[in-house]
Amino acid sequence: PSSDTGTSLKSVFWGTFVHSTCNEAVQVLEDTAVGVDHEGKIVFIKTGEDVQRVSQEVGFNAADVKQLGKHEFFMPGMVDAHIHASQYSFTGTALDLPLLEWLNTYTFPVEAQFEDPEFAKKIYSQVVRRTLRNGTTTACYFATIYTETTLLLAEIADRVGQRALVGKVCMDRNDGASYYKESTEESMRETDKFITQLLGKGYPLVSPIITPRFAPSCTSPLLEFLGKTAKNNDIHVQSHISENRDEVNLVQQLFPDCKSYTDVYLKHGLLSRKTVMAHACYLSDKELEIFHKTGASIAHCPNSNISLCSGMLDVSRVMKHKVKIGLGTDVAGGYAPSMLDAIRRAIDTSKALTILDPKHQTLTFQEVFRLATLGGSQALSLDDQIGNFAVGKNFDALLVNVSVPDGPIDICNEEDPKVRVQSYIWFDALKHLFSSGDDRNIVEVYVAGRRVVPFDNTS
Ligand code: GUN
Ligand code: FE
Repeated sequence: PSSDTGTSLKSVFWGTFVHSTCNEAVQVLEDTAVGVDHEGKIVFIKTGEDVQRVSQEVGFNAADVKQLGKHEFFMPGMVDAHIHASQYSFTGTALDLPLLEWLNTYTFPVEAQFEDPEFAKKIYSQVVRRTLRNGTTTACYFATIYTETTLLLAEIADRVGQRALVGKVCMDRNDGASYYKESTEESMRETDKFITQLLGKGYPLVSPIITPRFAPSCTSPLLEFLGKTAKNNDIHVQSHISENRDEVNLVQQLFPDCKSYTDVYLKHGLLSRKTVMAHACYLSDKELEIFHKTGASIAHCPNSNISLCSGMLDVSRVMKHKVKIGLGTDVAGGYAPSMLDAIRRAIDTSKALTILDPKHQTLTFQEVFRLATLGGSQALSLDDQIGNFAVGKNFDALLVNVSVPDGPIDICNEEDPKVRVQSYIWFDALKHLFSSGDDRNIVEVYVAGRRVVPFDNTS
């Protein structure tokens, strides 16, 4: 601490902080002050000292000091590692078909409407605001094949204040719905254009991500081009892998020279530490080893996996292979645009696996909390910037209150002498939040130090 931190200090948040570190899935920091500068970066974290003393040491008199109430705590903003912004309009419906038929019947007709900027603007504004309201401070988005409206999604996320990776979907093969695809040349040209234009905007919160929809919707020349483009520009890649059995078989037919689904992406240069692949329910040990070696990560999408009857990912197995993993809502294959729901479904899936095989190691709520925050940041290779509370990282945070009037949970009886700042109480608070909490318990949301929820009406 020195007076030069004081000069750029914008806010100080004082109270209880709950987050994950590499060593501890849930760490509770009580009576802690976190200082944030004008860029939204954390400049100090001080525990167990009174406000006055820290205030004098670092001179934050001029800063905006926010002291938390007794039932409140800060947790890191959640990372949705896989969500289709363009599918938000039919969230919660159309979950009666398996993946490949679901795409042809419901998904492609809707995505094809996103050529229309008015429609796109309406839906993209809704999905950004809804997910932010639900505590998603970082989202990894699929948009559609249309460059112009995908740029619109990026603009909306940056303006409303959500950190995002935004992908223009690439598909030069679509036998089931030929009205919704590009030529190979078009997909290449538009991808270049999308990346150049988005980088040119200089949005502080939003970056482009290369997005081959999945192996069945791309030809080999397109995949190769996308791999090269990702490498040359050092940018992120996202796609789907091994979501359902029919899809795995289809990939084997379409790419007979490849040893596995993972091998398709590997051969085309698409696996790196900046790659995130959704689902991964049916990967072999060999494939998981390739993920580990290349540094590619997995977005576990438990709601979608169950809703489309796709499969059940064994997260413990993925972790044993030391493969990075985060959680995704996969709207609209998943019916809930909420990371609290993704946490819940991840726990349910793990318990279902334990029912099927009592030897299965059930995920703890602590581990799942880490997946939704730090794990997601690692999966997106953003853990140098976000994921937990550490000096130098962005202040992306949720102010949680587990005792809001008329809220879904109230573990904190005013008369109860147990209700003090004590770590075990905070563990209970967290468990309640995950099992029955909702956005009413997320009273404020911060991204890069800026309060973005409650919304200000101009955004
Ligand atoms: N695989 C290819 N496209 C999609 C999609 O839009 N949703 C899901 N869940 N899986 C896919
Ligand atoms: Fe998906």
